[in-house]
Amino acid sequence: MRIVVLASGRGSNLQAIIDSVKKGALEVEIGAVVSDKGSAQALERAVKNNIPTRILPAENYTTRAEYDRALAQLITGLNADLVVLAGFMRLLGNDFISKFPNRIINIHPSLLPAFPGLDAQKQAVEYGAKVSGCTVHFVDEGMDTGPIIAQKCVPVIEGDTTETLSARILQEEHRLYAAVLALLGKGLIETDGRKVTIKRS
Ligand code: GAR
Repeated sequence: MRIVVLASGRGSNLQAIIDSVKKGALEVEIGAVVSDKGSAQALERAVKNNIPTRILPAENYTTRAEYDRALAQLITGLNADLVVLAGFMRLLGNDFISKFPNRIINIHPSLLPAFPGLDAQKQAVEYGAKVSGCTVHFVDEGMDTGPIIAQKCVPVIEGDTTETLSARILQEEHRLYAAVLALLGKGLIETDGRKVTIKRS
């Protein structure tokens, strides 16, 4: 399975995927890393690991639809079986999503459908949730609304700040994303509308 990773920032989830591939725990080819931000640390991580990079800055496009079409063209040219969003902080519209049905996945730092959108960990702390976590899901046109593939719970501990909770969730994100990619790579994930099931190998 050939994946293209889209990232806007730090790229620690990208790094976890790279490390899993290097360890031999995950058999995927990372065809390229694409970012909307030239300064993204994710791009440096890709370069260090000899992964091709592409930058598609949002400023170069006047509308979201235009951006989405350019991104779709870029990804199509990269021959990706799967588009992996790893901290890609742009909402993708139908002009992009319709081109890759059930072939775009995202990781989000909460137990969806709770706390979608930005600053999910801050939302959980401020809400007073006792448990949060992370979710890997297929991407649809909504904000973090696509069919859920896998989730991992993380307790919210008394005295947690956004930073301490984020760090604890991030550790689980790294494990969960690599595990889901391994299942997808082996063809063990089946979808039926919103229901996603893992075939037992
Ligand atoms: C991760 O926590 C990811 O779940 C989150 O951004 C962070 C990226 O970190 N994504 C979202 O909030 C998407 N709605 P990373 O760049 O170190 O992988």
